[in-house]
Amino acid sequence: MVLSIESSCDDSSVAVTRIKDNKLLFHRKISQELEHAKYGGVVPELASRLHAEALPRILEEAKEYFSELKAVAVTNSPGLSVTLVEGVTMAKALSISLKIPLIGVDHLKGHVYSLFIDKPTQFPLTVLLVSGGHTQVMEVQSLEKMEVVARTLDDSFGESFDKSAKMMGLPYPGGPEIEKLAKGADPLKHPFTIPMSQSKLIAFSYSGIKNAVRLAVQEAKDESDYPDIAASFQHIAVAHLTQKLKKYFKTHVPKTFAIVGGASANLYLRDKIEALLKPHGASLLLSELKYCSDNAAMIGRVGVEMYRDKKFSALKDLQVSPKSQI
Ligand code: KG4
Ligand code: ZN
Repeated sequence: MVLSIESSCDDSSVAVTRIKDNKLLFHRKISQELEHAKYGGVVPELASRLHAEALPRILEEAKEYFSELKAVAVTNSPGLSVTLVEGVTMAKALSISLKIPLIGVDHLKGHVYSLFIDKPTQFPLTVLLVSGGHTQVMEVQSLEKMEVVARTLDDSFGESFDKSAKMMGLPYPGGPEIEKLAKGADPLKHPFTIPMSQSKLIAFSYSGIKNAVRLAVQEAKDESDYPDIAASFQHIAVAHLTQKLKKYFKTHVPKTFAIVGGASANLYLRDKIEALLKPHGASLLLSELKYCSDNAAMIGRVGVEMYRDKKFSALKDLQVSPKSQI
């Protein structure tokens, strides 16, 4: 078995995955959302302290598996350095005390493998990763061959939901809040402009929409206007993604397309992407809802692949990095 640890942002999570069949045997996650909600976003130092408290508690629960562990896998990039280091330190301690090898996992590869937690891998894949830290399209041939073909120039998709929610006094994380508020409201009430629609560049930008939302919130007569603002924002945020993807598909027709990352839970986004794929006959692959947001099960799934390939790191070589290896 491989034990995996995730602490790249505000979720402390541990999983145990069986190597012979990738079966997830143990999975716990303690989310810090409530603690960060009062600040309207993740406070890195607070997150780091909460990981230091939560991880040993969850590891204690996983103790019965310790004698059967063949390796310990841990997210070492990308993410907040001060929170990544909590998981990595814990993993190094386990590696030393249990005398098992250490595996450093890239969090973004984890999100891709969240698609395969309970099924075999399926490549090639065109993947849209939408999370709080990332918005990018990747061409994925294998665990080792992942190429970013489009990315955001500024804010991420999830971050724009978080910031817009904050402007309307909604708690963190804002994505599910905005989606809920937008339900049944008018997505065309506020005709926000789609970013970069005149540009040939296949890339994303979310900082402009945020400012348009700020103005709409300032001009709102009261909170009863917020559902239409939320719906109009969500509509444009998704339209920006689909417009750029449509352009990209003109030269790169996908066979199988996947959406991963915390924001892939958004049902409005899923519907629009599904409609976009239809004329291409491409199928849509999604993670189970519980594996969309950050979790150690997806890190463990990568961990078992890396274990098979003997992709181990020496203790002194495994460092944390805010940047992805992809
Ligand atoms: O992948 P994730 O858990 O953490 C990162 O790696 O960033 O993604 C969290 C992000 C947050 O910005 C959150 O607001 C967003 O995903 N999110 C959503 C939805 N659920 C979560 N955004 C839009 N709609 C949702 N339903
Ligand atoms: Zn993530």
